Amino acid sequence: MNPWKRWFGNKEPLDSTVPELDADNIPNHVAVIMDGNGRWAQKRGLPRVAGHHAGMKNVKKITMAANEIGVKILTLYAFSTENWKRPRDEVDFLMKLPLEFFPKEIDELIRNNVQIRMTGWEEGLPDATLKVIKDAIARTKGNTGLILNFALNYGSRKEMIAGMKAMLGDIEQGKISIEEISEQSFSQYLLTSELPDPDLMIRTSGEQRISNFMLWQLAYSELCFTESYWPEFTEQHFFDAVKEYQSRARRYGGL
Ligand code: IPE
Ligand code: IPE
Ligand code: MG
Repeated sequence: MNPWKRWFGNKEPLDSTVPELDADNIPNHVAVIMDGNGRWAQKRGLPRVAGHHAGMKNVKKITMAANEIGVKILTLYAFSTENWKRPRDEVDFLMKLPLEFFPKEIDELIRNNVQIRMTGWEEGLPDATLKVIKDAIARTKGNTGLILNFALNYGSRKEMIAGMKAMLGDIEQGKISIEEISEQSFSQYLLTSELPDPDLMIRTSGEQRISNFMLWQLAYSELCFTESYWPEFTEQHFFDAVKEYQSRARRYGGL
């Protein structure tokens, strides 16, 4: 059966034409580098923070689109360990966004069985920000639907160094031996230990770089870059990226 049939019964149809997707080849884990908020705003003569606000408003829409087509995990890169370098006012604004996002959206996310998670360092986040995120995680812990994972205060090199230190600590204490170091065991020391690697990574805004995002985990992910800025990235763009993913041959070094 055409997996898109159920769309047509929606009271609020999506503002996009759903492409023919192969229901048997939906990426399990999609990661998005949500980039271009500042440029989106500047293009409109607005302050950069207006772009961050518009970007925040786009999160639920794309989450629902991912959920509808059967994506299991959606990781959204929201703030990097390098983003602290930005002007204080901008950082403060970004840190306050979860205070608006979660109270506004949590009920609908719960109705849709979404489970909230965070990948990143809690240290450094303002108390109120951390609290609202932890509450959302706690309230959705038992949900069994899409995992909406925010990469917040996340940086891949920091993650790998921290993982290496933790692993060496365990070696020192005799919990594991050097011989037991493997790709699999090292993965367990990363912040993503409970998540499979992304199948598809999308970056918006036209930049074609990884910016310290999941360097280990993206080893064999399909990469998709789009010119659209994050606030203008629609369900259609998301489906197009999945369609593009479905046209790729994942070889993992084999034939
Ligand atoms: C992405 O948009 C959001 C964050 C990095 C927090 P940017 O703020 O990087 O927007 P541009 O890239 O400057 O346009
Ligand atoms: C990457 O975007 C981080 C997030 C989207 C959260 P940046 O805008 O920080 O990346 P660079 O500085 O252009 O590499
Ligand atoms: Mg940027």
